[in-house]
Amino acid sequence: MARKIVAGNWKMNLLRQEAIGLIDEFQKNCTKPDDVDVMFFVPSLYLADIRTKAWSFNRIGAQNFHKEDSGAFTGEISIPQLKSCGGTIALIGHSERRSLFGETNEVLKDKVNAAIAHDFDFIFCCGEPLEIREQGNELDYVRQQLNESLFHLDSEQMRNRIIAYEPVWAIGTGRTATSEQAEAMHNEIRSWLRDVYSDEIAESVSILYGGSCNPANANELFSCDNVDGGLIGGASLKADSFCQIVNAY
Ligand code: PGA
Repeated sequence: MARKIVAGNWKMNLLRQEAIGLIDEFQKNCTKPDDVDVMFFVPSLYLADIRTKAWSFNRIGAQNFHKEDSGAFTGEISIPQLKSCGGTIALIGHSERRSLFGETNEVLKDKVNAAIAHDFDFIFCCGEPLEIREQGNELDYVRQQLNESLFHLDSEQMRNRIIAYEPVWAIGTGRTATSEQAEAMHNEIRSWLRDVYSDEIAESVSILYGGSCNPANANELFSCDNVDGGLIGGASLKADSFCQIVNAY
């Protein structure tokens, strides 16, 4: 069975003491269900601090990394560097990385391969922009993202992976996908996994929803058969709203 996961993506928010305070408050006040994994994708600068603060069952990750291990890549951070600060997982292909930093499916495939080579876990993000949804081409668009960056992995490499479906038009806009829209895409992603891999692998992959998920809509979204949790932006910046989403199952 796919793990249930609720992950917070802090993006470029919070000063160091605010970040530490948020982790402290969340851990002190939030009891999470045993069967839900909680992850925090923090600014890499704070990884080491947050790692020392975080309880062992909460996973701490980065929002991005460079595919090379080291070298002349000013401003970049590698997987070995993230690991050396306690990072165990990272996001790959968030739509903001794709649209604002020009990360193509090819670039993201290289990052997937770097993560696999380092046995470093990741959440692979996919999702269509508004104009693609308005044209009715969202399934082809997302399928292509997965085909070109992820589905080259073999079965063992795909087992227990995490995919986040985040329609770009729902990110930070307050416009959430309906549970029907989310389930329709998640169901497709699961069936592609069945076709490319097997039933067993498809059932092992967690498919998270992201995009204006909040305490008021999380329960309905998480009730969908193929939604295994959420990748939460804005609502992860407050310990109490994030805790409510963690407990929305
Ligand atoms: P949002 O962001 O919850 O603020 O819409 C989600 C994300 O970008 O991962």
